[in-house]
Amino acid sequence: MRYWNTFISQCSGKSLQQVHLQFLTSIFPEADTPRLKQMVEQARDQGEQVYTYWRDDPYLIQLPYSPEGQATPLRLQNTLLFPFDCAGERCFGLLLYDTTEFARANDPLATALNALSSKQLEQEQLLHTLEKANAQLLQSEKLAAIGQLAAGVAHEINNPIGYVFSNLKTLSGYVSDLLCIVDAVDGVGSLEELQQLKRSLEYDYIRTDVEALIHESEDGIERVKKIITALKDFSQIEEDEFRATDLHKGFDSTLNLVNNELKYKAEVVREYGELPLVECIPSQVNQVVMNLMINAAHAIESFGRITLRSGHQGDWVWLEVEDNGKGIEPAILNRIYEPFFTTKPVGKGTGLGLALSYNIVQKHNGRIEVVSRPGEGTRFRVWLPERQPLLAGSTT
Ligand SMILES: Nc1ncnc2c1ncn2[C@@H]1O[C@H](COP(=O)(O)OP(=O)(O)O)[C@@H](O)[C@H]1O
Ligand SMILES: [Mg+2]
Repeated sequence: MRYWNTFISQCSGKSLQQVHLQFLTSIFPEADTPRLKQMVEQARDQGEQVYTYWRDDPYLIQLPYSPEGQATPLRLQNTLLFPFDCAGERCFGLLLYDTTEFARANDPLATALNALSSKQLEQEQLLHTLEKANAQLLQSEKLAAIGQLAAGVAHEINNPIGYVFSNLKTLSGYVSDLLCIVDAVDGVGSLEELQQLKRSLEYDYIRTDVEALIHESEDGIERVKKIITALKDFSQIEEDEFRATDLHKGFDSTLNLVNNELKYKAEVVREYGELPLVECIPSQVNQVVMNLMINAAHAIESFGRITLRSGHQGDWVWLEVEDNGKGIEPAILNRIYEPFFTTKPVGKGTGLGLALSYNIVQKHNGRIEVVSRPGEGTRFRVWLPERQPLLAGSTT
C-alpha cells in the first residue's frame, strides 16, 4: 500500500502510516478472495482495467464504518482496478465506489422492472394464445369449407366414375365378342364363314365404339385426378412457408375444386394477365380465392357471371373476383371483415371467410379492396407484393 485517501482511512479506522508498504490482503484479510486474485492477474498480465459491479460482487473489501444514523452497514461497492506506471515502477490503483445508497434507491426500480417484465411475459403468452386461436380458426374455417365442398366434390367424382364404370362393362362385352372372332380362326371351314361371324358381331361398330369409349374413360379419369390433386393442394393446412409461386396454377386448381358450387350459379370467366412468380404461401392464397369465389356465388340469386382477373403493377400483383350478384349495402360494408359477421342463414355462413382472408392477406403484407353497388355486383381486389420484404434470403 503506497497511498490511500482519507475516506478509506475513516472507513477502515486505520491511518495511512499504519498500513504503509503492507500487502492489501494483510490490511484487509477478507479481501483475499479468488475474485481479487483473478482481477490482479488480469490487470498485471494483460494490462487491463478490471471492474466489479455490486449486483455480481456485493463488495471487494469490507469497510466496517457505517454512516451516521444507519443501523446496518450495508456496504455495496463498484470497484475498478487499473495498472499504471509510476517512475518506471508497475503500480495498481483500486477505486472503491460506495453504491449502498444507490442500491437502496435501485430497489423500487428493480421491483418495477420486474413487474414490468412479468407483465411483458403475460402479454407474450396472451399473444401466443391469440396466435394459436387464430390458427385454429383458420383451420376450422378451412375444414368447414372442405366439408361444404365435400358434397360437391363427391358429385363431381361420382359422375365420371359412373361412366367409366359403364364403359368398362361395354368394353368387356366387346372384348369377349372380339375373342370369339379370334378363336373362330382355328375352327371355321372357310374364310366366308369367318367373315360372316365378323359381320354378325358388328365388328365395324365395335371398332369405332371402342376408341370412343376408351377416349371418354381417359377423360373421366383425368377429371377425377384433377379434382383429387386440387383437393390435396387445398388441404395442406399446416403449410406456412413462403415460396415463389405461379398463382394462375393455384387459381385453376381452386376453380376445379369449387366448380360444382359455381357451375349452377354462374358462368366463370378467367381474365388472367401476366404474372411473375409471387412469394406467398400458396395454399393460403388459394383459400382467399376460394372464399371470394364462394361468396360471389352466394351473392348471385339465379344465374350470373363471376370474373377472376389478375395483373401486376410495379412490384405488386393483384387478383380480382367480380360478380354481378346482389351487392353489399353501404351500411354493412365496413363490417364484412369482422369475424363472425354474416348476413347468411345459420348453416350457410360462418362469417369467417373474409375475416380469415383479410388475415392471410395481411400476413402477406398485402391489402384487400372492395367496390360494391347494391343490385349490381361486387368486386374484391387483393394486392400482394411480389416479394416479401422481411423474408431472409428472398432472392427469387
Ligand atoms: N361477393 C359478395 N357479394 C355480396 N355480399 C358479400 C360478398 N362477399 C361477402 N359478402 C358479405 O359479407 C359477409 C361476410 O362474408 P364472409 O366473411 O365470407 O362470411 P360468410 O360468407 O360466411 O357470411 C357475407 O355474409 C355477405 O353479407
Ligand atoms: Mg364466405
